[in-house]
Amino acid sequence: MQNYNKYPYKIPASSVFPKRQIIYMPECHSTNVYLEEIVGEYAVADGSVVITDFQFAGKGQRGNQWFSQAGQNLTFSVLVRPVHVRASLQSYLTMVFALGVTDWLLKQVPAGVHIKWPNDVLLNRKKVCGILIENQLQHDCITTTIAGIGLNVNQLDFPFPSATSLRLETGRTYSLPECFYDLMICLDHRYEMLLKGLYNRLQEEYLQRLFGLGLEITFGDGAACYPGTVLGVDDYGRLEVRTPWGLKYFSMKETTIHWPLK
Ligand code: BTN
Repeated sequence: MQNYNKYPYKIPASSVFPKRQIIYMPECHSTNVYLEEIVGEYAVADGSVVITDFQFAGKGQRGNQWFSQAGQNLTFSVLVRPVHVRASLQSYLTMVFALGVTDWLLKQVPAGVHIKWPNDVLLNRKKVCGILIENQLQHDCITTTIAGIGLNVNQLDFPFPSATSLRLETGRTYSLPECFYDLMICLDHRYEMLLKGLYNRLQEEYLQRLFGLGLEITFGDGAACYPGTVLGVDDYGRLEVRTPWGLKYFSMKETTIHWPLK
């Protein structure tokens, strides 16, 4: 029997991932990096998770660092092998994880949950969760996806005013193991939709939660700023925007977007 104090996190059983394991470490450099290291060396089962109480070199998007106070939040990474998903459609993995997190958040709060393109999760217009998806591709297939999730749960102070936690927004404190278990159920459910090929539904529901949909926002390309209305996201995960010069499709690297955050 598991010693609950030493090994606090449990993972729900899953018919899709019958052999998955959970690896818990009190501290770790980065769960994404650790998972990547062990996937190269050992036969890590599909659906396995690495979770820690503290990362001392957490990775964020675009080469940023991810900071999270020890023992306050969920910091974990999930390994999946979506070999059936074409590499050109890898944005659907972004949707799966962003939708799974927002499904879970919507069970905790009645409203104010949005996805800021491509995969930041906002609560009351502040960032409550960051997701880092790292795919390994072979030809037109995705061989492995490591999805790292940093969900701010109980942390009370942040260095950036644009960040928040569930506790700050609701005034409640949460049990991290319970949050993790229920969140995994939500993530599994969305991944099963991907396995079933329910691409249209994933895209529709992602759009329903997309922050700024239909709003006019300022875009910058380094040289100039111009207005654009967010119309949606295409199959390749690009943001579709109506600009004064017609429709434009943005990928992450191309532009600065001035989102109307708090
Ligand atoms: C972002 O910049 O918004 C993405 C942040 C992702 C952070 C998570 S925490 C768990 C996993 N391990 C990491 O090193 N990063 C991700």
